[in-house]
Amino acid sequence: MNQANSPLTDTFGRHHNYLRISLTERCNLRCSYCMPVDGVKLSPAEHLMNADEIYSIAKTFVKFGVDKIRLTGGEPLVRKDFPKIIELLSTLNVDLSITSNAVSIDRHFELLKKTGVKTVNISLDTLNAERFHSITFRNYFDKVYQNILNLLNEGFKVKINAVLMRGVNDDEILDFIAFTKDHPVAFRFIEFMPFDGNQWKREKTVSYLEIMKKIQENYTDDQIIRLQDAPNDTAKNYSIKGYQGTFAIISTVTHPFCDQCNRIRLTANGHLKNCLFSKKENDLLTALRNNQDIESIVRQSVSSKFAVRSGMDAPESFEDPKQHQQNRSMITIGG
Ligand code: GTP
Ligand code: 5AD
Ligand code: SF4
Repeated sequence: MNQANSPLTDTFGRHHNYLRISLTERCNLRCSYCMPVDGVKLSPAEHLMNADEIYSIAKTFVKFGVDKIRLTGGEPLVRKDFPKIIELLSTLNVDLSITSNAVSIDRHFELLKKTGVKTVNISLDTLNAERFHSITFRNYFDKVYQNILNLLNEGFKVKINAVLMRGVNDDEILDFIAFTKDHPVAFRFIEFMPFDGNQWKREKTVSYLEIMKKIQENYTDDQIIRLQDAPNDTAKNYSIKGYQGTFAIISTVTHPFCDQCNRIRLTANGHLKNCLFSKKENDLLTALRNNQDIESIVRQSVSSKFAVRSGMDAPESFEDPKQHQQNRSMITIGG
């Protein structure tokens, strides 16, 4: 389909070729920045997309121009029919990838290889086992750490995501950088973002500039190399001279990158979100089940997309709790 006519091209000329599909609202960790303390009200099972429905919707998006699909959650691997879903999606002509907490990813190495997954993004917010427990409320640090090493040994490219929170793990910035010395990973610091129920406060976000300042205090300008970012990358990428890995910063709060946005999201209950922060959603699953044409719904959703952060352009609006409480909890968006 011609890009200009595609339902995935918005009024700013941004073409959304990257679909993020959340497979489940469940997770085997309880990270406070993602899951509200009281949990979330789960959708009834019959309201969730089944494997064939996921495939059917994804196939339609590929027809519209999607060429990259990322599977997210919750934790996508807790879904029992994960193998069936990824096998179905691997028949589409897309770059297929997954974001996982790595707790059980070692069970799926062969499946991931068979289905063409090359890069996996793993969440890990600390290199300290006790702290891992205090962030996630689970004792899986050793498993996750070992699985990162296993993924590298198995030949996967690995990106590690760490959400930095002041007073929680911001004292580990240099440890994370040191980790990239002998490990060929892409380590990404993420500015803590506000979502429903995650008790975000501006002061808890460690900004792009603060992170860089910390690194610049310890490495000389000659040692810090600014890398070329991939097209539509959310991260600003760097490396330390001579280190095997790289590091990057995802700066949604202080330096949004929405002008380059090519992402659209499908929630586990089949709703389309045109932005990570969208308050409005379009129910594609019900439309599919009623044999309605979903093209006009997709077109309507994409064409109503705001230029920046679903209308929260100004830093002050980002801080208004009323704005992000109308969005979902992160656990049900999938990042
Ligand atoms: P690749 O670029 O394909 O590697 O994926 P990614 O980095 O976008 O995906 P990942 O699931 O690893 O997400 C890492 C962080 O980036 C999370 O905190 C996401 O919420 C954030 N993120 C992902 N996509 C977007 C986006 O479209 N907008 C914003 N503002 N943040 C995003
Ligand atoms: N702010 C920033 N990033 C978040 N993630 C989850 N919640 C938040 C938040 N509040 C990240 C996780 C995961 C990715 C999909 O989203 O680290 O790796
Ligand atoms: Fe795209 Fe919204 Fe993220 Fe901006 S905040 S990059 S518009 S998804």
